[in-house]
Amino acid sequence: MPGDPRRRLIAAVALLVAAGAAAPLLRAGAQQAAPPAAPAWRVPNADALPAGIWKDTVLYGRRLFVETPALIGPEVTDPAMRYSSNNLSCQTCHLQAGTQAFGLPMIGVYPAFPAYMPRENEVRTIEDRIEGCMERSMNGRALPVDGREMKAMVSYLQFLSTGLPIGQAVVGRGTPSLPFLDRAADVEKGRVVYAAMCQACHQPDGQGLRRGPKGDAGGYLFPPLWGPDSFNDGAGMHRLISSASFIRANMPFGTNPTTPMLSVEDAWDVAAFMNSHPRPARPHRDLDYPDRSRKPVDAPFPPFADAFPLEQHRLGPFKPILDAQKPKR
Ligand code: HEC
Ligand code: HEC
Repeated sequence: MPGDPRRRLIAAVALLVAAGAAAPLLRAGAQQAAPPAAPAWRVPNADALPAGIWKDTVLYGRRLFVETPALIGPEVTDPAMRYSSNNLSCQTCHLQAGTQAFGLPMIGVYPAFPAYMPRENEVRTIEDRIEGCMERSMNGRALPVDGREMKAMVSYLQFLSTGLPIGQAVVGRGTPSLPFLDRAADVEKGRVVYAAMCQACHQPDGQGLRRGPKGDAGGYLFPPLWGPDSFNDGAGMHRLISSASFIRANMPFGTNPTTPMLSVEDAWDVAAFMNSHPRPARPHRDLDYPDRSRKPVDAPFPPFADAFPLEQHRLGPFKPILDAQKPKR
């Protein structure tokens, strides 16, 4: 992102984090095994497309992805265009406009759809998948499937996968897998990690830092991690395995996923701390994963196919649950 005002700020904060209270945590992190290295990662350049309607559409898709609150957020002037109800952008989680390996990238995603999705227990299209994040991560409502915005987003996603074969997995998709702990994640230990490694940007109250005044549809310099303007409790980032692996590979912001700054334990604990706070409620979560045997072990809400307590599905340890499931799969 050329000219991003965050760059200088982030570099400064990263130095502070590294120099100060975080030093012992950083040393602990350095001893842990790194996630697998990404192969050559090709990011096609939308700006280099020949001028025309296709290029305009791809670029509009990229703007929707990066400047979501300015175009379809809760503070835009036209009420009909208020599709997301928080001020996050897609890029808040799908880092660098969806181009960063292991930062929940969009490269390699378009050729992987339609695909079977356990959450709905049916085959879902790329449009369905985008709606999933609109309704959960953005705590909003569905975009019209044949509308200008959805077409532009899908065009941008298809463009990002230019040249990639259909149906073949791409290394770097999602986030790296994180070794399980043989204990439950510890919210109190996570509080200590948060103070040392996160709050300089996400703020002590977890509510982040806006770019400008409330109501300006400008979104965040540093996003909130919980509270009324965050993702809802039915979002993927609300699951402990998903959030801990994202955080270890990508946070503090600027982390190279091959050289994480957090130890494995710190990542689990700080993710548990983040998700121990209140956030918007997704109605009817109990209807997710209608085939209960395919429900992820870290889905933090009932009902479950097993008899493990809700607390263990929220915080782990997960291995006993997975072991108990094995014969059924
Ligand atoms: C709060 C974080 C967050 C935000 C904001 C967010 N997403 Fe996601 N998204 C996720 C996570 C986590 C996943 C991984 C799947 C899961 O576990 O739900 C995901 C998965 C996806 C996928 C499927 C990726 C794959 O590899 O299969 C698409 C497509 C997607 N998101 C699109 C979007 C779009 C478009 C927006 C903005 C309108 C958006 N997301 C906003 C967290 C987020
Ligand atoms: C140097 C500043 C900085 C630090 C330190 C930092 N983050 Fe972030 N974080 C960001 C930025 C910026 C984004 C959003 C990326 C974007 O918008 O391009 C983000 C996004 C996130 C997200 C996904 C978006 C969301 O709203 O949930 C999570 C989760 C997260 N950070 C957790 C953490 C945790 C936990 C720590 C401490 C281990 C941490 N961050 C440390 C700057 C930081």
